[in-house]
Amino acid sequence: MNVGAGTRALVTGASRGIGRALAERLAARGATVGLLARSESELEALADVLPGDHVVLGGVDVGDRASVEGAVARFAERAGGIDLVVSNAGLTHYELVREQSVDHMEEMTRVNWLGTVYTVKSALPTLLRQGSGHVVVVSSGAGHRSFPQAAVYGATKAAQRMFGEALRHELAGTGVSLTMVYPGEIATSLHDHEKERMPSWYKGGPNAAPARSMADKIITGIEEDARSVYHPPIVRLLGAVHGLSPAAGDRMLRILRGPSAAPRR
Ligand SMILES: NC(=O)c1ccc[n+]([C@@H]2O[C@H](COP(=O)([O-])OP(=O)(O)OC[C@H]3O[C@@H](n4cnc5c(N)ncnc54)[C@H](OP(=O)(O)O)[C@@H]3O)[C@@H](O)[C@H]2O)c1
Repeated sequence: MNVGAGTRALVTGASRGIGRALAERLAARGATVGLLARSESELEALADVLPGDHVVLGGVDVGDRASVEGAVARFAERAGGIDLVVSNAGLTHYELVREQSVDHMEEMTRVNWLGTVYTVKSALPTLLRQGSGHVVVVSSGAGHRSFPQAAVYGATKAAQRMFGEALRHELAGTGVSLTMVYPGEIATSLHDHEKERMPSWYKGGPNAAPARSMADKIITGIEEDARSVYHPPIVRLLGAVHGLSPAAGDRMLRILRGPSAAPRR
């Protein structure tokens, strides 16, 4: 699918980080963007500075099914259809399972995993009716290889991965396709609320890959109908090594990230 003038694109988690960078890139190409997140004022401010006319879908929690269904319907009506839906909204709580509250576990499950289900299920009938369109699901490298303190986060990202892998095949012959996205560490606000307690294997932060480079890779992936997009490329290598031998994945992580990334021998 070509991304350009006339593309009607719905992006969840558009107020910050990867979603915002993607919304900026899409708008620069002439797309009409549905900007969805909880924070209305940030989305209004973004819509004001983007070129073109966009649809602000503020006050929407992707973990609330009715709220997502309403927002997707509003966007389809205002834009006259949907060509691209990007399930990107997500959050983290990096904590040991034995210390993590079940509330945090449920929140990640609701927002990262069920948020993807609600977003894709709400938009899919419109895409199928049109016989054209593209779905993007932003998972994580953690969906290929989970890390200590990110057990539940990784589980939600693996759930997205399996969902997307199967759905891409289910969509064969419909005119609709799907691309999975596996970011590594990208410089966004994802961990701002937990900066003081990040695990020592974590090497992200302001010097990680910029969100706009991730957004460019996503657009290329959509245009090339890629099955998946990995950024930075080391994420693909880690996934491949872990898939062949988890023990070799452990060794690779200890070399790259130190013993805390895979302490058990
Ligand atoms: N940054 C990384 O290193 C990295 C690595 C791998 C994967 N990812 C994935 O990339 C995606 C985007 O993350 P990011 O790094 O760009 O994080 P971010 O800067 O924190 O942005 C997250 C976005 O999601 C929205 N959001 C969070 N909870 C929401 C909810 N319940 N309902 C609606 N919107 C919600 C936020 O907006 P509001 O708070 O206004 O709702 C914000 O726009 C996530 O799925 C994340 O798991 C990121």
